[in-house]
Formats: sequence, structure tokens, C-alpha cells
Amino acid sequence: MNFISTADVTGKELASILSAATLGKKQGWKPKLKGKTVGLLFFNPSLRTRTSFQAGLIKLGSVPIALSATDSWALELIDGSIMDGSTAEHVKDAARVLSTYLDAICIRSFPGMKDWDDDKKDALIQGFAKHATVPVINMESCLWHPCQALADALTMQEVLGKTKGKTFVLSWANHPRQLPMAVPNSALLIAAQMGMNVRLACPKGYELDSDILNQVKQTAVKQGGSFSTHNDQAEAFKGAQIIYAKSWTPPVLVGKPDEDTKLRKKLSWTITKEKMAMTNNAAFMHCLPVRRNVVVTDEVLDSKQSVIIQQAENRMHSQNALLLKLLGGKSKSK
Ligand code: CP
Repeated sequence: MNFISTADVTGKELASILSAATLGKKQGWKPKLKGKTVGLLFFNPSLRTRTSFQAGLIKLGSVPIALSATDSWALELIDGSIMDGSTAEHVKDAARVLSTYLDAICIRSFPGMKDWDDDKKDALIQGFAKHATVPVINMESCLWHPCQALADALTMQEVLGKTKGKTFVLSWANHPRQLPMAVPNSALLIAAQMGMNVRLACPKGYELDSDILNQVKQTAVKQGGSFSTHNDQAEAFKGAQIIYAKSWTPPVLVGKPDEDTKLRKKLSWTITKEKMAMTNNAAFMHCLPVRRNVVVTDEVLDSKQSVIIQQAENRMHSQNALLLKLLGGKSKSK
């Protein structure tokens, strides 16, 4: 089984991962993955993902092997290509070779942010998923950040108790740079999977990919929740129990950084104490790293409503529960 998006697990599996994470967090982790070796391939920077996977795997008795993109060869992703350019190794060879050494392959690979149709293929992680013979775990790709979403789910459960029927707002926020959509996509999907009333708050023109939004809407309805989009931040915040802030570049502005920057400069979507006061005493969430006093004010980040450190801590516990689910058995199969 691979874990590319949280849609790869059923409601029952999600509940069981969260329950194992809660237990491990409370009682401590036992070395149940002794003898298992997990590869962590980073094509982009990371603080939380890298450290939480390494620390978590060590607690489980496993041996993590972390590789940065500069440690390895440039990978070719296109099948049948004549490799006389800059790429030195095909993903089909790299994935099959690594599968002989490792019990799972975890990958972080951000989008190029030049062409959304190209980014949307999520070619690197899909290439590994196609050719590896061991589980592939997504540590943030072009489309999804499912491990972040598991930690978000655990945090919301801790904060709210029952999540079904509660109001979750994903709010776009100011940021000086163009950013990917993996975190907002995954945050919306996990909230929908948890049966929440999901609101997307963003300036007009900053809507996420329509295929992703359709998936979120269908999932929310199936789980007894709802989905709505709001271009008015105040309207979306009214009565909310979770405010999840994140900046992103919408599909229509991918590859157009100058246009995006010009538009962003006119927007006032920073999360403030005054905006949080419109909610139903909502918890404030962000995946981190966060640009203080641009995305959200210090006052909100350092308030009692902020659960950002709990959320980051939960990365390790929810990932450990996932790793046990994928690798806890005896057989080495996909
Ligand atoms: N939230 C998150 O994935 O953090 P890092 O980019 O530091 O890993």
C-alpha cells in the first residue's frame, strides 16, 4: 500500500491510525520496526518532516536513511525518453534499486511552479509509486502533503473531540512569495474526510484546482459534512471552530510570478486578533514554517488559541502510526 494522499486510506483506517497515534503519544513508542530500513528522499528543504520522520523511526527501532537531491543523480521521469540531456538515472531504475535495500521509500518533491498541467501530473512521486516494490510515502509532492494532514487530523481531534459537524475554515493569507498547493489541498480533504463543514476562504481568483475542490466537496457530502467557497474572509470566519491559514498560488497564476505579486500586494488577508474574534473561539492552525506578521500576527500565533506547536509535534506521532500500519506486518509487499 502506498500513501500518496489521505484518500488512500478509508475512514476506518484513518480512525485506526489516529487512535494508534494517540496511544503512542501517551504511552511512548516501542521498537516494533526493528530491522526495517526506511529511505527519506528530499528533493526540497525541510525542518519538521525530516526531523519528525528520523526521530520517529529511531523511536520505532528502525534505521532511517536520509538523502538530499544533491546526494543523488538527477532523475528522468518520462518513459521512453532518450536520456542524452541533464538527467542521469530513470525513476524506474532508482525506484526498483531502492526497493531492494529499503522497506519503504518516503519522498518530498515540490512542484516546478512553471506549468500547472505539468505539476498536476505529480510525476516524480507517481513514478516511484509505479515502479517501487515497497510502500511509497508522500512527504509532500506537487499535489498533496498527506503526512501533514494526518497531524492536522490528530490535532483537530485533540482540540475538538468529535470533528463531525464542526466548522473548518482554510483561509488564504498574505505571503511575499509564490507557494505550492499541496498543504491547502490536503487540509481541505482531511477536514472533509472527518465529516466537517469545510469552508474555503480566498480572494477572488485564488481558488484551488477545480478537480481537487470537486473531490473535497464529494468527500464532505459523503461524510455528512458540507463544502463552500467564500471570497469574503469575515463571512467565512463567522462561527468557525478551526482557522487554518496558508498562502498558495492558484493554478491560473502558476508560472506568472509578476502578475501574482502585483495582485498579492493589494490584498489584506493577514490573520489578526480582530479576525479571530469573529469565530466561535476557533483554534488557529498552520503547518509551519510561518512568516510572522505577514501570514498571521504574533498576537494570534502566541495566543492560547494557537495550536501550531501541538500540530508540529503531532507530525511524529501520526507518522509513526502510519509507518506501523504500512510496515508493521511481516511481509515486504506493496
Ligand atoms: N510542515 C512541514 O512540512 O514542514 P517542513 O517543510 O519544515 O518539513
